[in-house]
Amino acid sequence: MSLLSAEWTGRAPGRVNLIGEHVDYLGGIVLPAAVDRFTTVRGRPAPQWCLESAVPGGLPYAKALGDELEAAPQCLEVSSEVPPGSGISSSAALLVAIAAGLRPDLSGEEAALACQRAEQRATGVQVGVMDQFAAALGRCGHALLLDSASLRYRLVPFPEELVIAVLDSGVQRSLADTPYNQRRAEAEAGMPKRRRHVESEIDRVHQFVAALESAEVGRLGALLKASHLSLRDDFEVSTPEVDAIVERAWDAPGCLGARLMGGGFGGSILALVEAGSESPFREAMGGIPVMLCQTADGPFSSTEEPLSPRAPQELLGPEDGSPRWPR
Ligand code: GLA
Repeated sequence: MSLLSAEWTGRAPGRVNLIGEHVDYLGGIVLPAAVDRFTTVRGRPAPQWCLESAVPGGLPYAKALGDELEAAPQCLEVSSEVPPGSGISSSAALLVAIAAGLRPDLSGEEAALACQRAEQRATGVQVGVMDQFAAALGRCGHALLLDSASLRYRLVPFPEELVIAVLDSGVQRSLADTPYNQRRAEAEAGMPKRRRHVESEIDRVHQFVAALESAEVGRLGALLKASHLSLRDDFEVSTPEVDAIVERAWDAPGCLGARLMGGGFGGSILALVEAGSESPFREAMGGIPVMLCQTADGPFSSTEEPLSPRAPQELLGPEDGSPRWPR
């Protein structure tokens, strides 16, 4: 392959997680969706890895992914609409964009797993596979129900009458500076409060999917609220700033429910808002930045083939996504 013909472009979206927080690294079931904010990476082979971006800090991620993919060094130009540190997974968008550009021959699962390992290697944070999977395989008009133990997944239609709102807590943080690994270790050790969150959250994911599929939109809000309380009280990953915004959103017009989203300790809040109520909702949130999103396609999602051959479509039922506890 000549250097000229080896130029490539990759693009991948940010993600939200509708429900199923802090369960992916325990083999639980999660319901993220890719959203319409994208990172685009243009690359070409180079004597050593380099990366140009308005956002600092991407180079270790790119190098780590290069190692995972056994790729020769590349020079990368990154442009992104995914705000860093705000909880919609700018790192997964960057990594999956690079994987999609460098190795479009990979399956979505292979790409997601390589990106997960690269993120763990670059940051030391033992993240699960949810963010990379959603950025790679999310589908417009859908959420992605993923069993993070078996990696079986299926698409769940997301109702047109709902708008996804992402609220910025203003507390930007890198997960490496939070007790994320500690929470993971406590959960893996079966600490009772952590375990209670994980078990109840997995149950809420099943209930949330059932409510989406039976068009009982009203039930979604109660599940989001219960998820937040569990993250706050049992998993202890919220902060007073986040709690205040979540509670304000609960009372805002058109808002079905809201909760802390992602790793926690700051970052962002997810709210589901009835379409048509965006303006009063935004107004009620005062000066808190509100980003309205729609679901989007990940680069490894194919509209021809509903599912990759490596993950045969099967209904994920209540027996799926059981947490792994120590014996
Ligand atoms: C971060 C990680 C994910 C997941 C969430 C919490 O976003 O990257 O793997 O663990 O936190 O649900």
